[in-house]
Amino acid sequence: MSRKAIIAGNWKMNNTIAETKALVNELIPLVKDAQCDVVICTPYTDLATAVELTKGTNIKVGAENVHWAEKGAFTGEISAKMLVELGVEYVIIGHSERRQYFGETDETVNARTKAALAAGLKPIVCVGETLEERESGKVEEVLVRQTKGAFAGIDKEELENIVIAYEPVWAIGTGKTATAEVANETIAIIRKTMAELYCPKCAENRVRIQYGGSMNPKNVKELMAMPEIDGGLIGGASLKAVDFSQVVNF
Ligand code: PGA
Repeated sequence: MSRKAIIAGNWKMNNTIAETKALVNELIPLVKDAQCDVVICTPYTDLATAVELTKGTNIKVGAENVHWAEKGAFTGEISAKMLVELGVEYVIIGHSERRQYFGETDETVNARTKAALAAGLKPIVCVGETLEERESGKVEEVLVRQTKGAFAGIDKEELENIVIAYEPVWAIGTGKTATAEVANETIAIIRKTMAELYCPKCAENRVRIQYGGSMNPKNVKELMAMPEIDGGLIGGASLKAVDFSQVVNF
């Protein structure tokens, strides 16, 4: 299997510039020997600091959102080109908090993903069902819709540059992790969808799918031992250098 693991922190709306300096400086030596790709996704205001501090290290920096237009009258928004010029390499797109609180739809996820790719950013595209959707047996329907929506019109050649994060909404920030088996079998649904959209080999060799939702130093080993899980998108546990490093060094 040729899929390299990727662990990304999602800081959400946490850390000032001063806090970023302290956290990143503590993190650098703790993750320097990591066997996986290491990414920290920070608020816009922390990106320049994070990029500067991580130069020459194995830590890559990502943003938490990006607008789909190249530029223009979109007060308060940030374009892909602006991120690239800062030295940002990754960007989270379609996180469930954005779907829930900021009107993100499958269409806007698709538009943002295309804009990010066109500028040379690597999108981390989030999908995942709510508790209600799981309990009413709609997991497959929701994930197929979100995955097809996000990837509409995206070329096979781009697959290496995209990461999918499967984050069951009910597991985010709740301390409830999907069991490793449930995470694994749900990610298999997403991979099957990618196989249908592209080709079985593409899905098997070129599509990295992370698990996200209360992943932490205690459960990382079990989750990462699952054949379908290629990494993690880490919220709470990415805010403490020691915890995040223990996840990264699983
Ligand atoms: P959590 O967040 O690890 O705090 O559950 C994950 C995420 O929302 O990306």
